[in-house]
Amino acid sequence: MKFSYVNPTLIQFGQNQIASLAKLISKDQKVLVVYGGGSIKKNGVYDQVKAALSDFDWLEFSGVGANPTVEVLDKAVAICKEQGVDFVLGVGGGSVIDGVKYIAASAVYDGDGWDIPSGKHVVKQALPIGAVLTLPATGSESNQGSVVSKAATSEKLAFMSPAVQPKFAVMDPDVMLTLPPRQLVNGLVDAWVHTCEQYLTFPAGALVQDAYAEGLLKTLKTLGDNYDKQDDAWRANLMWAANQALNGLIGSGVAQDWATHMIGHELTAAYGVDHARSLAIVQPSLLRNQLEVKKPKLEQMGINVFGLEQSDDLALRTIDAIEAFYHSLDVATQLTEHNGNKAEAIDTVISKLEAHGMLALGEHQAITIEKSREILEKAVA
Ligand code: NZQ
Ligand code: ZN
Repeated sequence: MKFSYVNPTLIQFGQNQIASLAKLISKDQKVLVVYGGGSIKKNGVYDQVKAALSDFDWLEFSGVGANPTVEVLDKAVAICKEQGVDFVLGVGGGSVIDGVKYIAASAVYDGDGWDIPSGKHVVKQALPIGAVLTLPATGSESNQGSVVSKAATSEKLAFMSPAVQPKFAVMDPDVMLTLPPRQLVNGLVDAWVHTCEQYLTFPAGALVQDAYAEGLLKTLKTLGDNYDKQDDAWRANLMWAANQALNGLIGSGVAQDWATHMIGHELTAAYGVDHARSLAIVQPSLLRNQLEVKKPKLEQMGINVFGLEQSDDLALRTIDAIEAFYHSLDVATQLTEHNGNKAEAIDTVISKLEAHGMLALGEHQAITIEKSREILEKAVA
């Protein structure tokens, strides 16, 4: 094990914590509040933010959609540059927070913002940002990652930089009360797959990371089996689990996979599949394809997470249990959004993976384009 680990995001967790914004941002900073399609106007979150910022000089930018596009975000970048914004506050789910990371980095860069996700510009500086989380799923509220899309070319790409890590994240589980079941389930599945991407690789003797990952997976399984949005503890546990699943801790010092995410991003870009649902489509097929190399960890997961008995086919039964868990949540594990033309769909996704250089994915870089094709053969209906 060899790693550097720091998570500098201050977490302000619990009911009525949005009021703490007044203390978390310095009053001499001009703030741009960024939000999505308006859910925060209906559930009182906007009013709470407004009350907390009553003594501040602030502007707002709305309309950041799911899978945020640079076409929309660049309008907020222009506002930052024109108005001399000092601090960007995202109020929303992963899309808004990822969008804010792009805005903050692009606002101090003179070139085309798409240079950032496409890797032409490495982000070394950005405006400071904060997050008020309204949808637990991505962990974006306390990590360095951002995923943005370009509508013009149907591309979806990620970038990472310590410069865009939020200074703070306000996490009030009561904001989840207005989330539709579909989004809550998406959050649960996304957090589950994030944990798997950092755990389901090969044994490395990292007892702490393994045990923590298994604790998160068992928590998410329990929450999925006992869906109860009205229960305060249920919401708090989901919000905290989703955060912990992708805040850097369980991935420290261990190999990571992320192939499911890379292929899943292409399904979202091409067919508009919700992020979490793209993962549930890819992952079971990918795990079966990579059964031999992932066997020891799949067996460990089967025993420690699902409570299965040892047997020769334990690894396979663990994958079946993962797939059954998704089905129990009414989440599909095959792509059906492509209007039935399977061969064309596979070719579309493969050519996008090629164009984005995704030619050697996974913890062993063993998922070549041929392997991705095999995975898609099973993942596309
Ligand atoms: O836009 P509004 O009106 O706010 O509605 C949103 C949106 O339609 C709604 N919503 C959010 N909070 C709500 C609410 N509705 C009612 N009540 C509330 N409290 O939910 C819808 C989906 O929101 P979105 O932010 O898109 O969902 P999510 O948090 O799942 O984010 C998905 C995005 O994050 C990226 C994904 O690729 C995708 O673009 N990811 C970011 C990661 C990261 N930064 O580390 C890692 C992830 O793997 C992921 O790739
Ligand atoms: Zn994800």
